[in-house]
Amino acid sequence: MTEALLTADAVSRVFTTGAGEVHALTDVSMEVTRGELVVVRGPSGSGKTTLLNLLGGLDRPTSGRVLLGDGRELSALPEKDVLEVRRTRIGYVFQSFGLIPVLSAAENVEIPLRLLEVDPAEREERVADALELVGLSGHVRQRPYELSGGQQQRVGIARALVAEPEVLIADEPTGQLDSRTAATIMELLQDLTHARGLAAVVSTHDPVLMQRADKVVTLRDGHPAA
Ligand SMILES: Nc1ncnc2c1ncn2[C@@H]1O[C@H](COP(=O)(O)OP(=O)(O)O)[C@@H](O)[C@H]1O
Ligand SMILES: [Mg+2]
Repeated sequence: MTEALLTADAVSRVFTTGAGEVHALTDVSMEVTRGELVVVRGPSGSGKTTLLNLLGGLDRPTSGRVLLGDGRELSALPEKDVLEVRRTRIGYVFQSFGLIPVLSAAENVEIPLRLLEVDPAEREERVADALELVGLSGHVRQRPYELSGGQQQRVGIARALVAEPEVLIADEPTGQLDSRTAATIMELLQDLTHARGLAAVVSTHDPVLMQRADKVVTLRDGHPAA
């Protein structure tokens, strides 16, 4: 038996818009196990963000199920339980970094621990550890605008990991970075996944970055493709 930490079981997502129904995702199944980096690839509009949002509990499928490692169905949990899962088990990394401009790197990374009401001394220690993990120990007091794009994304990754989630979800984390910086971020995500036994799901449309994957899920027009 594999140790799947997150499973999509035949998920579909249909959006209803003024112009009619949009079949963003159709019958997609995948799983990610501990220590495994899964890359979701596909052109723009193929359903990558929709799939990652379902896996991360930010959205619910129209049909199909998303299952957690403990067997619970994330896609059927009450909203307060989904919130709890998102705070404790899932770390999310965004394409546009999602950092708060007026806060320092350390303060940005600290946010998830404040939400979890971790006491200040422990917060400080864990923030320092997380920033060290991503190679930013020398930049704790800098604001996002004082950091390069790659450094900002490292802050985003530290923030995603500081609460020690078991699953890391990153939606085109390198989409705003030049190709060399993108390669170093992908390498970091791979190293962290393997070293910390994380289950990571990362989307990209860059074929070079895909080479870091343990497993690739390809989407085309919302459908699984070879
Ligand atoms: N909230 C929404 N309402 C309507 N259509 C949406 C919504 N979100 C995504 N879509 C549509 O679903 C399809 C897949 O989008 P998305 O998952 O963002 O693809 P990708 O991340 O691969 O670019 C696209 O056709 C997109 O326009
Ligand atoms: Mg997207």
